[in-house]
Amino acid sequence: MAPRAGRVLITEEALRARVAELGRAIARDYAAQGPILVGVLQGAFVFMADLIRAIPIDLTTDFIGVSSYAGGTTSSGEVRLVSDLSMSIEGRQVLIVEDIVDTGFTLAYLKRNLEARHPARVRVCVLVDKVESRQVALELDYVGFTLPNVYVVGYGLDHDGLFRNLPYIAELDGG
Ligand code: IMP
Repeated sequence: MAPRAGRVLITEEALRARVAELGRAIARDYAAQGPILVGVLQGAFVFMADLIRAIPIDLTTDFIGVSSYAGGTTSSGEVRLVSDLSMSIEGRQVLIVEDIVDTGFTLAYLKRNLEARHPARVRVCVLVDKVESRQVALELDYVGFTLPNVYVVGYGLDHDGLFRNLPYIAELDGG
């Protein structure tokens, strides 16, 4: 059976409400100095697009591309930078925007990589935290939802490049 989107775990309405809350919290925390939001490609682009419109302060955006799963549904622990930022982040307030944290390898790598460029501070905003799967210690500053260790798709999250366009987050059946 070809993998397909199964049970809906996070509805469109729940996503909209939570993204609005995250936006308000981020706007409050960064009122003094507008951040650079760094979206992690490809998965975070849908979340990032909604999130920035929920943050009513001056901000800039950039994207970074990493690859970790190489087409499967389990992490290899090996993270590769596939496309870099377009600007310097030296002295800036950086907020990494990520779709989902599983083992934590990707975000741990990204935090290390960005911190080496001498920003003022790097914080992290993730839409979904699969907290049970964590293999490295990681501090998350903003978390949208916590889910158990299931593979999910939709709202930017894919399986083999598919399902990113679903407006909700669902469990993957038969993956
Ligand atoms: P980590 O390095 O194991 O934390 O994996 C993080 C990356 O794996 C995320 O940026 C996603 O691209 C991908 N990923 C992890 N879990 C899922 C999932 O349930 N659905 C879709 N992608 C996932």
